[in-house]
Amino acid sequence: MLKVSVLVSGGGTNLQAIIDRVADGKITNTEIVKVISNKKGAYALERAQKRNIPALALSKKDFGDSDEWENRLIEELDGAGTDLIVLAGFLAILSEKFTKHYENRIINIHPSLIPSFCGAGYYGLKVHEEALKKGVKVTGATVHYVNEGIDSGKIISQKAVYVQDGDTPETLQRRVMEQAEWILLPQAIDDIANNRI
Ligand code: GRF
Repeated sequence: MLKVSVLVSGGGTNLQAIIDRVADGKITNTEIVKVISNKKGAYALERAQKRNIPALALSKKDFGDSDEWENRLIEELDGAGTDLIVLAGFLAILSEKFTKHYENRIINIHPSLIPSFCGAGYYGLKVHEEALKKGVKVTGATVHYVNEGIDSGKIISQKAVYVQDGDTPETLQRRVMEQAEWILLPQAIDDIANNRI
C-alpha cells in the first residue's frame, strides 16, 4: 500500500481528483495519509477533512525560519509513514535538503508542457497568461519528479490541450485542469503505486 501525502496551497481541485480516484478505485494500492497546506484556511484542507483525511496547515510565518518549517514538515510526513509526496497546487519552494531527503519520492503537477512556461514565477494563472500572450495553439500539463530546481525534475507524463479562440487565462486554466491535470496526476500515482514507473 503506497502511503501518499499531498501538499497544497489553495483550492485543492487536484487533491480532489486524487481523493475521488482513490474512492472509485481508479487509483489502487494507495492510501492518502496526510494533507498539509502552507496556507491556513486553504479550501484544500476542507476537502481532506470532509473525507476524514488527517490535514493541517503549517504556515512559514509560525516558524522562526524556513529550516524550522521544513523540519516540522518532515516530522509530519515521516510520522505518517509517507512513501510519496504529491505537490498539488503547492506554491512554497522546498530546499535542496528537503528534496534530497525525499529523492525521487516527490512529484508535481505543472500546468504547461514543460519546458514551456515553467520555472521561477510561472505558477497558477500566470502560466496561461504567458501561453496566450505567446499565441501557442497547444498547451497542457506535465507531471514530473521534483528535484532541487524549479519544475526541472525528470518528466513522468504530459497531456496536450488545445487553446481555443477567445480563451481567457481562466477558461484555459479550467480546460487544462479538466482535460489534463485531473487525469495525469491520479494516473501517475496509480502507476507508482503499482510499480509501472
Ligand atoms: C492550478 O493552477 C494548477 O494548475 C496548479 O496549481 C493551481 C491550483 O491547483 N498545479 P489546485 O486547484 O489547488 O489543485
